Parts: sequence; structure tokens; C-alpha cells
Amino acid sequence: MKKRRISFELLVFNTLDELSQSEKELMQIAAEVREKAYAPYSQFMVGAAVLLDNGEIVIGSNQENASFPSGLCAERVAVFQAGARYPNVAIKTIAISVSSKTHEVDRPAAPCGNCRQAIAEYEQKQEIPISILMMGVSGEIFKCESLNDILPLAFGSSYL
Ligand code: THU
Repeated sequence: MKKRRISFELLVFNTLDELSQSEKELMQIAAEVREKAYAPYSQFMVGAAVLLDNGEIVIGSNQENASFPSGLCAERVAVFQAGARYPNVAIKTIAISVSSKTHEVDRPAAPCGNCRQAIAEYEQKQEIPISILMMGVSGEIFKCESLNDILPLAFGSSYL
């Protein structure tokens, strides 16, 4: 038996001003979009802004449903829209902004497992890393430089 360590470097920023101008703008768009989320059940608002290789930005917010499992996370709303509108254009960066109507969110939230799997599909397809920026209303900003960093040992089409 041997042990294999899998690790990654998370980049941590204290303010939006530490990001590049385009990353900062992408996060600001995610924060605006977040406010239009449809989240009457959880009161947890998520905005996602996807920057594509052609410069287009595609957005998504979480869309809940009285039949809870029928709702969808912001990240998948955004990446599926990007896939539908620009099927052959690579995704460069996804900015994710979260807030709650019930409490102050003072730290970033990483995409849920289902969203990681959905984003991994596009990263594997395009063979170019997708960087993920994450932020709450206040607090630190996280950046991981590849989706694979937060979904190690990802399942994908290479197994099929
Ligand atoms: N949510 C997202 O939009 N993205 C995530 O990665 C985590 C959770 C949404 C789903 C649901 O509308 C609410 O947040 C609470 O789970």
C-alpha cells in the first residue's frame, strides 16, 4: 500500500481590488445577478457569471421550485446556458457570488457537488482549465485555477 496525496493551491484575496480588472468585473456581475435569484424557499441567493473565450459573459442565478429537487443551482443555469448558446466556445472563468436573506454571508461558497460534476464535463471537453472565483457578501475571495482542483478524481467520459 502506498499513500498518494492530492492537494491544490487555493488563491485567497482580501478585496476585489486584488483581482484583475476583468475578474473584478465578472464578480460584480455575479453579485448583481445574485439579487435576481428565485430563492423563496432557502432565501439563499446565488449568482454566477461565466466568461467565455470569445469575451461573452453568460449569467445564471439559482431557480428554486416548490418541488425542491426540480430547482437548479446558479452555476448549472449559467454553464448550461453557455453550452446551449456557444457550444464550441471555451469557458475561461466562472465567478460565483452568494448571499442570504436571513444572515450575513461572510465567506465564499464553493459549487455543490452536482455543479462541480457539470462544470468538470466542460473542462474535460475543452481541455483548458476553468478557473472558479468565489465570494460571499463580505470576507475573503477564493480562486481555484481549475475545476479539477475541487473535484479530484473526477469521473468523466474517458471511462465510458
Ligand atoms: N445553490 C446554488 O445555486 N449553487 C450551489 O453551488 C449551492 C446551492 C442554491 C440551490 C438552492 O437554491 C440554494 O442555493 C440553497 O441550497
